[in-house]
Amino acid sequence: MFKFTTASKNLLVRSFSSSVSAQGAKVAVLGAAGGIGQPLSMLLKLNPLVGDLNLYDIANAPGVASDLSHINTSSTVRGFSTEEQGLSKALEGRDVVVIPAGVPRKPGMTRDDLFGMNAKIAMDLSIACAEVCPKASILIISNPVNSLLPLAAQVFKNKGVFDPKKMIGITTLDLVRASRFAFEKTGKVQFIPVIGGHAGTTIVPLYSQCSSLKLSPEDLAALVHRTQFGGDEVVQAKAGKGSATLSMAYAGARLVDSVVRASQGEDVVECGFVANDTYASEGVDYFAGILRLGKEGVSEILPLPENITQLEKDAIKAALPQLASAAKKGIDFVTNN
Ligand code: NAI
Repeated sequence: MFKFTTASKNLLVRSFSSSVSAQGAKVAVLGAAGGIGQPLSMLLKLNPLVGDLNLYDIANAPGVASDLSHINTSSTVRGFSTEEQGLSKALEGRDVVVIPAGVPRKPGMTRDDLFGMNAKIAMDLSIACAEVCPKASILIISNPVNSLLPLAAQVFKNKGVFDPKKMIGITTLDLVRASRFAFEKTGKVQFIPVIGGHAGTTIVPLYSQCSSLKLSPEDLAALVHRTQFGGDEVVQAKAGKGSATLSMAYAGARLVDSVVRASQGEDVVECGFVANDTYASEGVDYFAGILRLGKEGVSEILPLPENITQLEKDAIKAALPQLASAAKKGIDFVTNN
């Protein structure tokens, strides 16, 4: 699970150590002044493994950076606006780029409804990443992830720099929700893989892997539904003022932490939406799998556990056509623009 707490135990001791800053990961957040971007940037500022944090947004990134730069941890924070090649400067030398730039949902909207607004943003930012920091790990939060990760991958492919180990659509919030919702029933925090995609019924939580969870079929169905539509719960509760931001910031910070720890040699397992040929025979090239992270990004897509249930197998099968068409939409956007 998330080791951020372990690292943060030493936070005060290490706050003023310049060596941490010199060795720490170089991270950029694109969309850093938004509802997710601000708390995500703060969590990254608190992470001793992050040495250098660049914040970019079309509005107010220098303000957010100035604010965070007063927190007495060792990392440096700089803000970049759209003026004077700000995006390129923000991306220079980055090890990890996290992208929460884009419009969030309002009640009644699906993630796919955001495509028209967010595809161009994702394409422009992907082009800049491919040109300035093609070897960085690119972690995409913006929705619809099921289309925007394939879109970004296509941009990188067209420029000849795509590395499937280095590009992940962030589904970590689905794992966080599954873990929390199971905890509410079992009292135990456990890693529950969530595979498939990041939209409605493409989100497939593998509660079969939670040995302490004993539920009736009806209660299990309700738990699966809540995991798939947990985002809607937040959108409705916020009543037009956006979607999940704080839990998403936590989830994004966890994945960055995992990627950085793995890059330093730690064996880390996460889930994420990646180029994945497990279901290529069914026309699906992008699928959220259980990922082993290593020094160079995704080192292995782990096989699905043998004991997954028939219901889970059926859910995967039902998700495949949706995933194929969502990916096509992203790829077609690159071809046509
Ligand atoms: P927000 O509207 O609060 O913030 C978005 C930020 O992006 C704004 O500060 C805006 O100025 C910035 N932005 C817009 N165009 C930009 C560009 N071209 N370059 C750089 N920055 C740009 O939205 P919020 O709540 O932070 O959500 C961001 C995205 O994350 C949405 O698409 C939302 O659907 C998605 N999301 C994804 C989740 C996941 O699990 N992957 C969970 C929750 C939200």
